[in-house]
Amino acid sequence: MPMEKYKYMSNVWKDGIFDNKVVFCTGGAGSICSAQVRAMVHLGANAAIIGRSVEKTEKMARDIETARKGSRVLGLGGVDVRDPEALAKAAERTAKELGSIDFVIAGAAGNFLATIDQLSPNAMKSVIDIDVLGSYNTVKATLPYLVESAKKHKTDGRAPHPHGTGGRIIFVSATLHYSGTALQTHASVAKAGIDAMSVAVAIEQGPKGITSNVIAPGPIRDTEGIARLAKGESETAKAIPSGRYGTVKEIADATIYLFSDAGNYVNGDIIVVDGGHWHTSGVK
Ligand code: HXC
Repeated sequence: MPMEKYKYMSNVWKDGIFDNKVVFCTGGAGSICSAQVRAMVHLGANAAIIGRSVEKTEKMARDIETARKGSRVLGLGGVDVRDPEALAKAAERTAKELGSIDFVIAGAAGNFLATIDQLSPNAMKSVIDIDVLGSYNTVKATLPYLVESAKKHKTDGRAPHPHGTGGRIIFVSATLHYSGTALQTHASVAKAGIDAMSVAVAIEQGPKGITSNVIAPGPIRDTEGIARLAKGESETAKAIPSGRYGTVKEIADATIYLFSDAGNYVNGDIIVVDGGHWHTSGVK
């Protein structure tokens, strides 16, 4: 006897699940965010990536476009997330040229190693401005489009929406502030602020169909962050229960989960993708 189709089956992990959807990503030319966007494009989305460098952003957009034949990826360079007007224009252009903004990744960040006594007021302010205000500016610029998208995609809680999902935000944070990290006062404060922002957005905007979540990557191979901050995989991996650094693909996988039907009821949460690293902080 043929098995009855399981009626609550999610339509995840298949080609085309993000067909006709648009993802808007700040920091999109960076190693982690470009992998997140590339995975979305591979599964059907079009995208706009936003960055400070015109050349790097444009080059990455062309590269991501190769993830799927016929995809469109706008490389919106020359945009600093600390500039709300520039971000608003980028969002407007994205919606105009690509038709909507269904997903947002707030990924732009600044970081370096410095003790608090080495940290100038301007250095502290720069990181807070890029990470916290930049994430706020990103949400402000895109929220009206996300609310429109959410109206079209709100699920009834029993079955996947026939036209997929939309109205979703992911903030890219870190685990630095869970147990305290030396040389990272600026980034820890900034990432704690981002975590708090995500929960507030989830609670406030959830009734409109918006979901807001955080992905907190641990040490990830081949990223600018890890090149700037860590000693090297062979040394750091000793404190990671999974015994190795993560990969950008593993951050992309968490992104697909949160943006797909599988993540419909996940809201105001933090997904830590770090091989269990933060649990061992302090164990040397
Ligand atoms: C101390 C520093 C510094 C350093 C910059 N500053 N680098 N202070 N140590 N290494 C100070 C400057 O002297 C200046 O203060 C102030 O910061 C602003 O610097 P500017 O270069 O003028 O400004 P701006 O370009 O706007 O911002 C600088 C920046 C940014 C924050 C360093 O350019 C940046 O981070 N870019 C790299 C992006 C990056 O690394 N992304 C990955 C993030 S990884 P004064 O007082 O001199 O004016 C991440 C994950 C963390 O976030 C978790 C990993 C596990």
